[in-house]
Amino acid sequence: MRTEEIARLVRHAMDARLHAYAPYSHFPVGAAALTLDGRIFTGCNVENASYPAGLCAERNAVGSAVAAGVTEFRAIAVCGSLSEYTTPCGLCRQFLAEFRVPLVICARSEEDYIIMTEEELLPRAFGGDAGKEKA
Ligand code: THU
Repeated sequence: MRTEEIARLVRHAMDARLHAYAPYSHFPVGAAALTLDGRIFTGCNVENASYPAGLCAERNAVGSAVAAGVTEFRAIAVCGSLSEYTTPCGLCRQFLAEFRVPLVICARSEEDYIIMTEEELLPRAFGGDAGKEKA
C-alpha cells in the first residue's frame, strides 16, 4: 500500500476512535477497513455494563462492511493508545482471519505504525472446513 493510502486509512480510524463508547476501560479504539473495491468502513469499540458483551473496533468496522455487502478487504487500520501500538485481541484475530484481511496497520499516528500480515496476526488460523487450505 502507498504511504498516502495508509495515512488516509489511519485518519479514518482515528476519527472513529473519537466516537468510541468506552466508559469502563477508558480505552477508546477506532478501526477503518479498506475494501477491495476501495471503500472504507469504520468502527469503534462499544462497551457494555455486562463487560463481555462489549465489541471491539475491528469487529464493528468489518461488520459494517459485511452489512453493506462487502466481504473482501485490502487492509484494516487500528488506533487505540497513542503511545503504544494497539494490536487486535485474540478474538478479533480469529474474526479477521475469517475474511482473510491481508494487512493490519496498528497505528499511533498517521506516520507512525507497524504493519502485521495475516500470517503474523494468527499463524495457522482455524478456518473450519472451508479454511482447510489455509493451514
Ligand atoms: N479493544 C479494541 O476495540 N480493539 C483492540 O484491538 C484492542 C481492544 C477494546 C476492547 C475494550 O473495549 C477496550 O479496548 C479495552 O480492552
